Amino acid sequence: MKPSDRIYCALDTVETQKAVDLAKTLNGVVGGIKLGLEFYCANGADGFKAVAETGMPIFLDLKFHDIPNTVAGAIRAVAPLGPKILTIHTQGGPEMMRRASETAAEEAAKHGHAKPWVTGVTILTSLDDSDMKAIGVEDVVADQVARLAALGAENGLDGMVCSPREISLARAATNPDFKLVVPGIRPAGSAAGDQKRVMTPFDAVEAGADVLVIGRPITQADDPRAAAEAIAKSING
Ligand code: C5P
Repeated sequence: MKPSDRIYCALDTVETQKAVDLAKTLNGVVGGIKLGLEFYCANGADGFKAVAETGMPIFLDLKFHDIPNTVAGAIRAVAPLGPKILTIHTQGGPEMMRRASETAAEEAAKHGHAKPWVTGVTILTSLDDSDMKAIGVEDVVADQVARLAALGAENGLDGMVCSPREISLARAATNPDFKLVVPGIRPAGSAAGDQKRVMTPFDAVEAGADVLVIGRPITQADDPRAAAEAIAKSING
């Protein structure tokens, strides 16, 4: 994989035109664009299509979490858009994950798209060990992440989202082909913002990340295209 193909730029905005302009600017220097709940709640499928028309692959990060039938229905609903990566919560359980994966494969074939990677969110990085206790989970975050990662790999997921510090344990709990999609990436010397545990692009890929989700270091740069190019270059060391 080319270094630039590993980069998905997170466009955390509600403005379709801003997202389209940035996607055009970044075409060819990143692997794709991540659109999340904020963008999709504001702009829906039309917003997705407008960004996808730039030719950029799209990671649709809606973190589905519901009963198996409803998650399968949601995946059927977004399948015509042809996302490259989707997210679901592994806490939805084994059957939900299996149904999500099967539905993604069936629907992609029906619409003539490649099967999207269905990736799992384990424990949100906003939760710590005391939050786990508060919701009645006795395990510490790391153990629960490893358990859910293994469960995802056993139940048809293509990969998972994990923080930089979880890369090694996620890889150890799964298999070499499991795609590790990693946010919390900061080029050396750039502002961490609200990200508490960050890693450079080079270190994250060295540790085993497949895809790097990078937002503000690109979107807030004076020259986003140059910033993305510099990040891709830095991955080569
Ligand atoms: O701007 P920044 O590079 O921090 O953006 C990272 C992106 O990854 C945002 O869209 C954020 O919501 C997402 N994300 C994250 N940490 C997680 C999961 C997702 O930063 N644990």
